[in-house]
Amino acid sequence: MSILDKLKIKPMEWVEEKDGPRFRWLDTRLIPWEEVYRETKDYERVAQAIKDMEIRGAPAIGIAAAYGMALAAVYSNTNDVNVLLQRLERARNVLASTRPTAYNLFWALDRVMRKASQASSRGVDAVINSVVEEAKRIHEEDVKQNVEMGKLGAKLVEDGETILTHCNTGALATGGYGTALGVIRAAFEEGKNIKVIATETRPLLQGARLTVWELVKEGIPATLITDNMVGYVMYKGLVHKVFVGADRISSDGFVANKIGTYMIATMASKHRVPFYVVAPSSTFDLSIEGDNIPIEERSPDEVRTVLGKVAITVPSVNVLNPAFDITPPSLVTALVTEKGIITPPYKENIRRVIKEQ
Ligand code: MRU
Repeated sequence: MSILDKLKIKPMEWVEEKDGPRFRWLDTRLIPWEEVYRETKDYERVAQAIKDMEIRGAPAIGIAAAYGMALAAVYSNTNDVNVLLQRLERARNVLASTRPTAYNLFWALDRVMRKASQASSRGVDAVINSVVEEAKRIHEEDVKQNVEMGKLGAKLVEDGETILTHCNTGALATGGYGTALGVIRAAFEEGKNIKVIATETRPLLQGARLTVWELVKEGIPATLITDNMVGYVMYKGLVHKVFVGADRISSDGFVANKIGTYMIATMASKHRVPFYVVAPSSTFDLSIEGDNIPIEERSPDEVRTVLGKVAITVPSVNVLNPAFDITPPSLVTALVTEKGIITPPYKENIRRVIKEQ
């Protein structure tokens, strides 16, 4: 039995049917109101789902892209291995153009392409099989790594503590368990009496919609705050630790994560609240130093409205909408990875721990 069969929340799956395999995913735009699964045999539809944030969260984006490549391989409709590789390269480019900050996306696409070219001397079927198997492996590995990070990170959580988290880093952002929310889940499963403060995470409300949905489902005590209440709750001593995820971490420990993370880290530092980042090794981009991480800018209408439903300002107003910000390593107490907990100095320790990716 695969670890994927044991998941309580299945954000995505590869489904084998008589008329061929398909990729199925939970449309997270509709959570918490409706649980709707969508499916496709078309990798371009997968790219659209990532772009439109039906699937979101760096690890989930990487896994979905790998399954997109698997669809591109299975439905490539050619007997010529060179044509197949060209089609895969095209699919890679389409999928890579969806969300620029999430490093797991590029990491997963490169991993699948490497497998495809290694199998190419063995013919079309070998390439197709190796791409499909690699996508499944990426998915399973992600869940295993999440569980491992959960166990390691839970050691940092004491009985009776209140954890603040930002955005959604749970089953809905990964292969099905979670990074920062995985640590919270693991600490709770170990019987620790913990509480969670979730920030709503404007503009797309991943905290209010997705994190709260997951916490309530698990029975973990949760309190929702608006993003601008973080200073208040820390000043009042209501937060013992912060756990967040990451979209990309540079070789020297700069962390790109959901917009607002830097503000939380700054407040945490001011109030001497430990600030932990939980991310698998697939989120580390060792080719980058410092804050040189591409930041996705999304549609201004996400800020001018609430979820596109209610207009909250003058329609013509100029808007800034960076989806992520960068937290410098000086504000990060430790990085929790499946390979171990990394503490400063990050420049040396990240390379040492992550290097054999
Ligand atoms: O824009 P999103 O919802 O994809 O942003 C998600 C985040 O910022 C998460 O914190 C990050 O991807 C880590 S998810 C395990």
